[in-house]
Amino acid sequence: MILSGKARLAGVLGWPVSHSRSPRLHGFWLRQLGIDGAYLPLAVAPADLALVVRALPRMGFAGANVTVPHKEKVMALVDHLDPLAARIGAVNTLVVRPDGSLEGRNTDAFGFLENLRCGCPGWVASAGPAMVIGAGGAARAVVAALVDAGIPEIRLTNRTAERADQLAAELGGPIRVVPWHQRSDYLAGAALLVNTTTQGMTGQPGLELDLSALPMTAVVNDIVYVPLETDLLARARARGNPVVDGLGMLLYQAVPGFEAWFGSRPEVTDELRAFVLAG
Ligand code: ATR
Repeated sequence: MILSGKARLAGVLGWPVSHSRSPRLHGFWLRQLGIDGAYLPLAVAPADLALVVRALPRMGFAGANVTVPHKEKVMALVDHLDPLAARIGAVNTLVVRPDGSLEGRNTDAFGFLENLRCGCPGWVASAGPAMVIGAGGAARAVVAALVDAGIPEIRLTNRTAERADQLAAELGGPIRVVPWHQRSDYLAGAALLVNTTTQGMTGQPGLELDLSALPMTAVVNDIVYVPLETDLLARARARGNPVVDGLGMLLYQAVPGFEAWFGSRPEVTDELRAFVLAG
């Protein structure tokens, strides 16, 4: 699409940003919907973050995504911080309001839950306990989403126990921190298993977890999506558990931002999945 002088502008702020799939993802929707708009990769060094964020409304941007390493620091730079973003402790979406002020949101929790619900329509929060592996930034969005969805119990485990304790204390809700060395035992009776660690990512060893105690009906989700089928998902699939890969979380977290900036709610389709994967 050739841009006009009225084109709506958005982008992703990261450092580095070259690995980001967001320009491809939003670019697909802009083209598909025939929107006069652009979504740009914006490489912003940490020292320049405040300058760039404050310049966005002045440059006519409708907003932006924020990625590594800026998601926490940007919280202090916005005029309005969404309560969910404050709870999670990270902002991934900036929206410029009509008065030029900046709103900071977090759409990762929405993306996680929507991926789970669309990837496994039979799953409901009331089905039973969830086991969440990891206590980093991604885990905070996952745990907040599950608490808000009304899950009866979250068993949280992390290699570094203090981080899990801290996450549980900060987020509240029905969270039970369980010892890392007993993580395989605590799969008994779980209705959902989510890996939020970097284990299983290309270049990293697979997650060490014995699945034998996990009920066959439990849904297994990995938020890692490179590779699409991690060792954990392959093992879960082989024993018959329903599995949901992590790519959908990336795709669905992008929906609210796109709608806020460009005025149309885009759809997550198989065609989009294939296009983003091919990039
Ligand atoms: P993100 O924001 O992507 O969640 P992060 O904050 O660096 O990234 O968190 C990474 C998660 O992967 C953490 O739970 C981390 O465990 P620690 O808190 O103990 O570091 C987990 N992780 C990373 N490498 C790991 C490994 N070799 N074994 C187990 N867990 C690991």
